This record gives sequence, C-alpha cells and structure tokens, in this order.
Amino acid sequence: MTASNSKTQYTSYQEVWERSQSDPAEFWLSESEYINWITPPATALSHPSETEWRWFPDGTLNVSANALDRHVDAGRGDAIALIADSAMTGTQERVSYTELRDRVAVFAGALRDLGVVKGDRVLVYCPMTPEAVIAMLACARLGAIHSVVFGGFAANELAARIDDAKPRVIVTSSGGLEPGRQVPYLPLVHRALEICGAESSGVSAVVVADRAHVPGTAADFTGSAGAGATWYDWDTIVAAATPADPVPVHANDPLYILYTSGTTGSPKGIVRDSGGYAVALSWVMRGIYDFGPGDTIFTASDVGWVVGHSFIVYGPLLAGGTTVLYEGKPVGTPDPGSFWRVLAETGAKILSTAPTALRAIRREDPELREREKYDLSRLRAIYLAGERMDPETWHWVRDGIGVPVVDHWWQTETGWPICANPLGIEELTVKAGSTTVPMPGFDVRIVDSAGVDITAPDVEGNIAIKLPLPPGGMLEIWGSRQRFLDSYLAAFPGYYASGDAGHFDEDGHLFVMGRTDDVINVAGHRLSTGSLEEVLTQHPAVAECAVIGIHDPLKGQRAAGFVTVSRGTRIPNEELAAALIALIRDRVGPVASFRDVTVVNRLPKTRSGKILRKTMRQIVDGEAYTVPATIEDSGVIDEFIAALAQTVSAPPTRAVTLPR
Ligand code: COA
Ligand code: AMP
Repeated sequence: MTASNSKTQYTSYQEVWERSQSDPAEFWLSESEYINWITPPATALSHPSETEWRWFPDGTLNVSANALDRHVDAGRGDAIALIADSAMTGTQERVSYTELRDRVAVFAGALRDLGVVKGDRVLVYCPMTPEAVIAMLACARLGAIHSVVFGGFAANELAARIDDAKPRVIVTSSGGLEPGRQVPYLPLVHRALEICGAESSGVSAVVVADRAHVPGTAADFTGSAGAGATWYDWDTIVAAATPADPVPVHANDPLYILYTSGTTGSPKGIVRDSGGYAVALSWVMRGIYDFGPGDTIFTASDVGWVVGHSFIVYGPLLAGGTTVLYEGKPVGTPDPGSFWRVLAETGAKILSTAPTALRAIRREDPELREREKYDLSRLRAIYLAGERMDPETWHWVRDGIGVPVVDHWWQTETGWPICANPLGIEELTVKAGSTTVPMPGFDVRIVDSAGVDITAPDVEGNIAIKLPLPPGGMLEIWGSRQRFLDSYLAAFPGYYASGDAGHFDEDGHLFVMGRTDDVINVAGHRLSTGSLEEVLTQHPAVAECAVIGIHDPLKGQRAAGFVTVSRGTRIPNEELAAALIALIRDRVGPVASFRDVTVVNRLPKTRSGKILRKTMRQIVDGEAYTVPATIEDSGVIDEFIAALAQTVSAPPTRAVTLPR
C-alpha cells in the first residue's frame, strides 16, 4: 500500500479503537501493509508471557529505505523531504527525497568505511542541522543503532550516555548556535571521552560536520587522535565513500536508543524497535495528523527528544511528506513571529510544539500582531505535547490562530501519542486541559497504589496502560531487562506504569495532571531531580539537598534546590548559590535552567528520614499544604518558610535578539 492520508478507510474513532482492542493482531497486521517489508510479517504479535511481547517477530525491513528510497522509487524523488530553516543564520535549505536518499546513502557508506556494521551503536550529538537527520537515517540504513544526545547536555551527561551505549562512532558538529552564543561541541565531546577513559569508551572515530557559520573549532581536532579516537571531517570521509545499500533488519532489531530521565541520576536508554515503530508512526501520521504526501509538518522540537525522532524525522518521512527542521527559538530569533514565518514560508499544514513555546510567544506578543504578517491559510491544526497544556494558553492560541489545538500525551517510552484527538479519523469534542482519548492499541486505566483498577469518571489515580504496549512502544532499557521490569512493569502487575497521574471525565477524556515520581518537565525538557541532587551533593559545602520542580509561568516547571551546609563550613549564601548554579550548568548542562538555591538549616523530613518534597513544593507554589503527621519536627516548616525569603535566584540569561 502506498502512504495516503485519506480519511475514508476509518469510520469513527470508536470503531477504530475497539477494533484495535478486540483483535489487535488483525488491526496491526492490516496497518503493517503501509510499510514496505523485505519479508512481510505473517505474525502480528508474539506474547509468550505478560511481560514479554514482540510485534511482527518474523518481519524484516529497512526503516531508512521506507523513509526515503520507497518514495524515490515511487516517482516522488523531486518532492521536498526536508526544509532546514535556521533562524540563527537566516538560511533555508530545501532537500528533495532523491537528494536526501543520496546524502544518507553516501554517509552510510562513510560510516561503513569506519567499521560500523548492523547492531553497532553510533552516538549523534549535533545541533539542528541536516547532518543530524542524515546521520540518523544513515545508521538506520546500515542497521546500526543511533543514540541522539540533545545538544543542551554537558560533557558529563554525554559521557554517561557513551559509557552506557558504547558507541563505535560519534557524529558531531563544529558547533551549535544559541541566542547570543555559540555552542562548541568538540571540547564537550573531547571532555566526555576523557571522562569515559580512552580505552574503555570503545569509541574509535569521531566524525565532525564543520559548519561554516561556526568556524574555527573543527580544525583543532580533525586528523588527530584526541581522547583515544580518530577525528574525521564529515566532507572528507563522504568524498571518499561510496553509497551503501539498505541492510535488512528484523522488525525487533533496535532502531535507536534514546536516553531519558528516570528517578535516579543514571539516564534510561529507551530501546525502540524497527518494524513496530514504522507501522505505528505510519498509522499516527494518517490517523492522528491526517498527514501524507504533499503535506508539510513543522515540529518545533529538537532531534535530541522523542518528539524530534518521531515527528521531525521518521513519521513525516515514512508518510512521504515534507518535514521542517528548525534551528531557532519561538521568540528572540528575531521576534515572536518566527513560528508563523516558518509556517507561512513552508506552507505547513501542521505545527507541533510544546506549550512553553506558546507561552513564550504569548508573553511577548499577547495580541498576536506578528501573526498578521503571515499567510497561515494552509495551517490545519496545532499539536502540543511535552508538558501539561494550561487551559488559558490553549484558549489564547485556539482563538488567536483559529485552528484546532490538539493536546496529545505521550512519552519517550511509548514513542507516539497515548492520547490525542485523532483528526485523521474525526475531530472529537475538545476540552481545554484534556488530552482527549486513548489512541488505538492503548488501553488506558486509572489504578490505585496497589494496582487496582479504579477507572471511573473523575477518579484521580496513577495512569497505567494494559499490557502489551502497542507497536512502537519501548522494547526495554538498554543493557538491563531487569531495570525495564522494575521501572515500568513491577508497580502494577499487568500494566505499564506511565509515571503520570490523572483522571478520565464522564466522556472518557483523559486529563493528565502531573508526574508521580521525581521527574520534572522544564520547558518541555524532561529532567530528573535525582540527577540534579547528585550533582549538588558533589559540592563540598553541601551536606544535604533536595531539588523540587516548582511552578514557572514560562517553562511550566523549573528546578529549585534546597541545601543544608556542612558543619564548620563558612560560605556566604550568594557565593554558595552561584557555585551550585555553575556546577549544575557544567555537569548537567544549560538545559537544566537551574537558577534557584535556598540555604536551609534543616530539610523538612518525616521521622523515617523521607524528605517532604510535596509539602515543600506546595509551600513554594503558594498552594494549600498538608504537613504529614509523621513529620520529624513541625517547627522545621516555619524555618523553611522563613528561609524562602533568602532564596538566591540568578537572573535568566538574556536572549539576544537577532537582526532580521
Ligand atoms: N544546545 C545547547 N544549549 C541549549 C540547547 C542546545 N540544543 N537548547 C537549549 N540550550 C540552552 C539555552 O541556550 C539556554 O541557555 P542559557 O541559560 O545560556 O540561556 C538553556 O539551555 C535553557 O534553554 P531553554 O530551555 O530553551 O530556555 P530559553 O530561556 O533559552 O528559551 C523557550 C525558553 C520557552 C523559548 C524555550 O525553552 C523553547 O523554545 N522551548 C520549546 C520547548 C521544546 O521544544 N521542547 C522539546 C520537547 S517537545
Ligand atoms: P518525554 O518522555 O520527554 O516526552 O516526557 C514525557 C512526560 O511529559 C510525560 O510522562 C508527561 O509527564 C509529560 N507530558 C507529555 N505530554 C503531555 C501532555 N500532553 N500533557 C501533560 N503532560 C505531558
């Protein structure tokens, strides 16, 4: 079957969802026909036990060929696959399917020359330039497993991912561009390799895409054997390479590892399969986004996040449409009209972004004056994810832009939306604050802390998904099946624990209210408070600490640190706060946006020593709070409130406005 976004095949959301539940094998096998298989799967699902399942176990395919070659072979090679728009450099590049296929094939050839074979890991640490997409698709072409690391992470975080994934090759760039500064990637890669230890890292090569706009750094490294690896210039190895053919992989072979924050400091490498993901994304593009050949989607995220993997790279290309890769911000690059400019210039049908981006635009342009400058007549819908959408901003954007605004809920682990409004089937009633209804394949329940199903209108609880997860859901955590079982399947037997809490209303619409664990969402970026605490305690003056996610009017949440000082240490609060803010930036990266430190005499705790994070957050956010009867000493709450007046808050770095 060819990719198509015709609505005619689906009658109603209810019918489609019920079919996916009553006969999942039949449903997904029929959806699998939208993918070009090398060996078409005869079996949809192998499910030997409650906690073990695999989709399309006997199918073989190549995902990169499905994303590129298939469309070229179908005579659509001249269609635009990728529009790379950089608000940072004022450039826009349009790449056809034929050109993208050729650039991917030859870069795959270059990786092959560096020894990369099927199953090897390749770490991609790049800014939002076409090379990032090419590197990902080149890995997929070889059956190698890519692991993309977001550019806002520092060397330590990069090292943790290198250590875990053990990549053979790292693909990086001479640098990224953030408002007012350049991001030098090479010293970060160098330092990360040193942290890992040259011998143990296993990285034999670093490939550097040298950006003309960020000059002067690649030359210091290429050709050298820095930090145990040989450093190569992208253009040089590509010039010497021949195109590589797509390598067949099994549907269950990993396509990528994507690290995400858990409750501990060590990130979890979410492993994605190949066949199930391709089938699921192909469904999503039609069923949820109503997207196909001839359509353009602008997903304003980063390839370092799951949103970027699914809806900048794989989803739109599998569907044969045009995807926009945007380097820039919603505001300040140069103004709050950037998104509307990109939508108008690319003729995009869909904008997908995080609520925080809309809040940023609203703060600077509440009347949406910039929007008036652009022709948005081709825009059909706006999709939001990454954090809870506040109803006020939802109304503002829906009324201001005049298209459906779909809040959809999903996670790195699921790879695609668990709940959404499936505009490709029918537009359901929209309710501000709700992520609408479960998508096919997802049987979403509310369970109590014992795992008992308490699903009923307006009953709040843990959001859990009945096993098995549908195609495209995570296979496991890289390197540890046990950690996968412990993290997701042990809490509520028979269910996947989402880590989110919420409720259904009387119409079966889901409201996702927040996390139940120590994960926070800062500007749509998922961070672990545990990992921030691990860094704070590395400072010799810190005796104890707690990091909590507090309300932030722009970013939804931001991390705030509370520390006690080691006995005998004399250091002014401002000095300690500045040191801790710098430490987090150095060890975790600027993405943590860590700016608030409060020095306290004691942390509020229960008698058993558990820090009362929820009570602390409620106090800081000015909410009604309850002090548990198990508190160690109730006087600590008054002390805590008094200490808040002394919080040191570093001002946010000022975004520099670029000239048009
Ligand atoms: N490489 C290096 N540094 C990066 C980076 C990257 N790819 N992305 C962000 N950073 C840095 C920023 O430069 C900033 O550094 P600073 O402290 O020196 O200013 C810091 O990380 C925090 O960045 P960010 O969270 O983006 O905040 P901001 O204040 O620069 O911008 C918004 C605020 C709301 C405009 C911005 O967060 C945004 O566009 N959010 C959209 C969210 C999104 O796309 N989420 C993806 C998941 S769906
Ligand atoms: P990530 O894995 O980075 O995509 O983050 C996933 C988490 O972001 C989810 O578990 C939620 O906590 C949050 N999230 C994502 N989308 C939404 C949404 N639409 N509404 C509320 N929270 C969301």
